[in-house]
Amino acid sequence: SEDLQPYRTAFHFQPLKNWMNDPNGPMYFNGVYHLFYQYNPGGPLWGNISWGHSISHDLVNWFILEPALSPKEPYDIGGCFTGSSTILHGSKPIILYTAQDADGAQVQNLALPKNRSDPLLKDWIKWSGNPVLTPVNDINTSQFRDPSTAWKGPDGKWRILIGSEIIKGQATALLYYSTDGFNWTRSDKPFKFSRETNMWECPDFYPVSNIGKDGIDTSFQGNNTMHVLKVSFNSHEYYVIGMYDPQTDQFLLATNDFSVSNTQLQYDYGRFYASKSFYDGAKKRRVLWAWVNEGDSPSDAFKKGWSGLQSFPRSIWLSDTRKQLVQWPVEEIKKLRAKQVNMVSRELKGGSLLEVPGISGSQADIEVVFSLSNPSDAELINSDLSDPQHLCEQKNVSTSGSYGPFGVLVFASKNLTEQTAVFFRVFKGPNKFQVLMCSDQSRSSIAQGVDKSTYGAFLDLDPLHDKISLRSLVDHSIVESFGGEGLACITARVYPKLAIHEHAKLYVFNNGSKSVTMLSLNAWNMNKAQIVPMD
Ligand code: FRU
Repeated sequence: SEDLQPYRTAFHFQPLKNWMNDPNGPMYFNGVYHLFYQYNPGGPLWGNISWGHSISHDLVNWFILEPALSPKEPYDIGGCFTGSSTILHGSKPIILYTAQDADGAQVQNLALPKNRSDPLLKDWIKWSGNPVLTPVNDINTSQFRDPSTAWKGPDGKWRILIGSEIIKGQATALLYYSTDGFNWTRSDKPFKFSRETNMWECPDFYPVSNIGKDGIDTSFQGNNTMHVLKVSFNSHEYYVIGMYDPQTDQFLLATNDFSVSNTQLQYDYGRFYASKSFYDGAKKRRVLWAWVNEGDSPSDAFKKGWSGLQSFPRSIWLSDTRKQLVQWPVEEIKKLRAKQVNMVSRELKGGSLLEVPGISGSQADIEVVFSLSNPSDAELINSDLSDPQHLCEQKNVSTSGSYGPFGVLVFASKNLTEQTAVFFRVFKGPNKFQVLMCSDQSRSSIAQGVDKSTYGAFLDLDPLHDKISLRSLVDHSIVESFGGEGLACITARVYPKLAIHEHAKLYVFNNGSKSVTMLSLNAWNMNKAQIVPMD
């Protein structure tokens, strides 16, 4: 019943039960969205890894099908790990996936739809030529995984990236070529490597447009584009942006290179991992999915019977500055918006706390916009403290500043014993203003033994001219927050004991000494998405 499952989500994708991790092979094909995912059909912890498969017409409501790939053959008996799909010649989808073979080595395999004219692509056949690639030469047998979607170069050859670590301590994205999508040969040069980080998992490489928000096909070649390389390590999604030359396969960075730092560009500064994007030709956009793992314990997983969520799908594009990406929940989310509450513009004096009446603090979509009258009164920031996560930890929601903390309390119980605070602080740095965004989970639950880490990010905004906006998607045990219209994202998991269902309230607050203007607040209770087995 509902009471025994207060943490199951209403509109974030999750299977009916059991373990789920990475999104795999997302694609739009013949009018249908496909989402595959790392899935354990046998229990709530990682194991027996198969490809769960669900389909949708709107990225909101889903039919759950039988797993598309299960570990059965000598070349994948240890688990069908992460991989990607590619639609060859616009009409022939293939899946490339990593598997652990009978000897425990990581190999790459290929699968094809049994019947391409089945609109649901229910059945997948493993290619008779598997394994497609084995870890030969200098490739470590346990560090060779997660093939990317293939893109086609001007020479007509397909290219993929595979995550690896070639020399101890040297993370690598290996590059492979193929003329047919089936037979692959390794390039003499790695596509990119780094001595700064651990092994790279789940590489993703795609073009973004210099003009506007439209997405572009992974194989697009032409002007007015830059390319994004994303890799997964250190529990986060790090990316770089640069100019890609498909003649030479050189990638020249326009941003800082990969490093383990809270100020290096990340898709999300909270819990968000092993992401994968795809080009959605129907709506001309690039859509991003990621695994949002649990912050509770394995014994909690057995009690719940499940572990793992997918993020709500996000559109992703290059910002006007071309220095970073912008992300926003796909527009179809609006289908689920039910009762709306709107609060008109008002001044929030220092110490303000206003309940948003009639809105659930556990199943809502919230948009709030602030502005500051005189940012030059902001506190000075000490450049030694420029790690945003540490700043948010040191100055939590109850530490008053001049501008900030101001924002929202979600999952708030009566008397605020439990609360999850998503808020901003504005500082004056040596050269510019610093707008800090925090998601503070330290008081999210009275339960012990669940993760309550606080997360932080800087927003590339100028509070002299720009509004400071927040969008938060609140869904029972997850809050996905978008600052500055998607300039920085923070996803967190929470496990309240008191603030569940109708006991969870929503507040807006200002705990700084200076007033801030709340220009608008719009919040919606959300309906539940249909996520049901296909019979
Ligand atoms: C990332 C990952 C991948 C691997 C998969 C196994 O979370 O470790 O590198 O393919 O999960 O489930």
